[in-house]
Amino acid sequence: MASYTLQAAAKINLYLEILGDRPDGYHELAMVMQSVGLSDRIDIRSISTDTIRIQCNHPAVPTDASNLAYRAVELVTQKFPDAMTHHGGVEVVIDKHIPVGAGLAGGSADAAAVLVGLDLLWKLGLTQSELQELGAQLGSDIPFCIAGGLAIATGRGEKLAALPSPNPLHLVLAKHRHISVPTGWAYQTFRKQFGDRYIATANATVLTDRWQRVHSGPLVRAVTQGDVDAIRAHLHNDFERIVFPTYPPVAKLRQCLADVSSIGALMSGSGSTVFALARSRAEAEAIQAHAQNVMADPDLDFWITEFVSAGVQLC
Ligand code: C5P
Repeated sequence: MASYTLQAAAKINLYLEILGDRPDGYHELAMVMQSVGLSDRIDIRSISTDTIRIQCNHPAVPTDASNLAYRAVELVTQKFPDAMTHHGGVEVVIDKHIPVGAGLAGGSADAAAVLVGLDLLWKLGLTQSELQELGAQLGSDIPFCIAGGLAIATGRGEKLAALPSPNPLHLVLAKHRHISVPTGWAYQTFRKQFGDRYIATANATVLTDRWQRVHSGPLVRAVTQGDVDAIRAHLHNDFERIVFPTYPPVAKLRQCLADVSSIGALMSGSGSTVFALARSRAEAEAIQAHAQNVMADPDLDFWITEFVSAGVQLC
């Protein structure tokens, strides 16, 4: 039976601005996303029974229809009803390295890899944008996770404008093992506190103007030109305003990493992961050693990685 192995890269947000409400209940966003080397490994293969089977070595990852990877197989099966009859069922084995509930899009990355893998397994011949359209039906981050690299994401996060790959920076990711921030809670809390300042998103001109400001703005310029001195001043994540007061250890971690990183530190997505950018692997190691020493928190996990230019890759 045919099988494929894929690497599914995590992402970080170098910029995340919440602009306003959308009629579909989601939020209009302006983000700058970057893939990083920390990846899950996904094995996908045909099986003889007409079923969807998900296995994962991480106990917190569900293996039923609440897993986005499962729903990715289901969605493709609905779109191509003859494929399962022809090729048999599907087994997906997820070797989890990306922390769960971390703001790194680990679940979205796995689903992205399943879409790419299934396209190969069932010889569907879908284009990247067709795969991204399918991905957008499952989750806002999945289209980015398919393509990866550096991109501006707008709309719900599914509208992408790819940017040239920058000089790969190194980074330290740090997360409290027992702190996970539910994404739905983060958006609801942000709306409660700052909803009165949302822009009227029905006004398409205002929205386009905000997106363009990010596109031609100082962070994108600094990252694409490798101007590391300018990056620090322009890293931004709106979610820090609601996550830090509720989870003080995350605020403390961000401060500790920002104090020692020469390029800057930021929370990724809705948290709870915080990253610190570094000019070299040696600097990343020094930042980690400093944070371990100063924070002295046994609940903290660290990963050292670097920017990568792809989302899903065939191994
Ligand atoms: O799209 P995804 O399933 O990843 O989103 C998870 C949750 O985050 C949604 O149910 C929604 O509450 C919130 N969300 C939002 N606006 C976005 C993306 C996500 O409100 N642009």
